[in-house]
Amino acid sequence: MCARGGCNPPLRVTALLLCVLLLGACTERPPAYPERQAPRGFLEDPAQRAAGAALFRRHCVACHGTPAEGRSGRADFFQPPAMDFSAAIYRSLDSAYLYWRIETGKNVEPFAARGSVMPAWGPHLSEEQIWQLVAHIRARAGG
Ligand code: HEC
Repeated sequence: MCARGGCNPPLRVTALLLCVLLLGACTERPPAYPERQAPRGFLEDPAQRAAGAALFRRHCVACHGTPAEGRSGRADFFQPPAMDFSAAIYRSLDSAYLYWRIETGKNVEPFAARGSVMPAWGPHLSEEQIWQLVAHIRARAGG
């Protein structure tokens, strides 16, 4: 059936398709989120950080706290799991990204498709309160 070399073109097409697919899987683009900025000095202000810590204790520790703070046993089994924000990356992660994640939670892609259980806080908290939480997350990471 196959003359010499006759089977190669379909093979080459398959190989090419495979490359494109693999490349697509490896180059996941970060999600797009709106640019915004906290008022100057806000995120470093100890009073705002303290207000953020209080909000965090009230709304977030069941999932994002340490065991001493009251982290629920379920939080480690969420898929994806709930981080406790002690990782150094949270010192430098764009504050507009953190704001957007708190505001929209699991309601946006790619987090919805991943099965996130992160609630959207936009409808429940003011803009100032969300910035206070961002300030606290920075502080948790030692930033
Ligand atoms: C019911 C559990 C739950 C509660 C309550 C919760 N979260 Fe989350 N949160 C998650 C999970 C699980 C993730 C990881 C999956 C994801 O990124 O959506 C997450 C992700 C996040 C992220 C994204 C971090 C990153 O690296 O992308 C931020 C920021 C965040 N939460 C902040 C908060 C804040 C602030 C509160 C309280 C106002 C809160 N969360 C309350 C479960 C929760």
